[in-house]
Amino acid sequence: MRTAVCPGSFDPVTCGHVDVISRAAELFDEVTVAVLANESKAGLFEVEERMEMLSLVLEKLPTVTVMSFSGLLVDFCRRHEVTAVVKGLRTTADFGYELQMAQMNARIAGVETVLLPTSPQWSFVSSTLVKEVAAFGGDVSGLVPSEVLERLKRRLAL
Ligand code: PNS
Repeated sequence: MRTAVCPGSFDPVTCGHVDVISRAAELFDEVTVAVLANESKAGLFEVEERMEMLSLVLEKLPTVTVMSFSGLLVDFCRRHEVTAVVKGLRTTADFGYELQMAQMNARIAGVETVLLPTSPQWSFVSSTLVKEVAAFGGDVSGLVPSEVLERLKRRLAL
């Protein structure tokens, strides 16, 4: 059984995340989406809300499950017998950061990482930019799943 974890903040899930998770589901028998619950600063959405949105938008993918985690990602990988971490790569800027994390995780726990180039239509999309644009009234439809767009508008009271 080959299993993958797609870790991240997912505050909120974007179409870019859905692209990478769906493609990971084609490559691995099972995929766990792991929402980071470490962060000291509060996000726009609570971890439970992020998980709820992920579950909703990924419900058509039967081999994908959504969980949260805190502490080190490699400890989560050990506990769940994960074969590889899967992360999306949007730009060369992502590459430097992802390479360092991949090498650290390999060094401290022998955990492998697979970096999937994001489909080009999502290469400029990040949760941070989506929130910023939406907060100032910009149109982010088509960049996040429709269920997320509705919640984003409500949360920002647009
Ligand atoms: O959404 P992001 O910012 O790309 O996700 C980064 C994430 C969650 C993968 C990374 O911050 C992480 O693994 N955090 C858990 C703590 C940890 O293991 N840190 C050491 C990384 S080498």
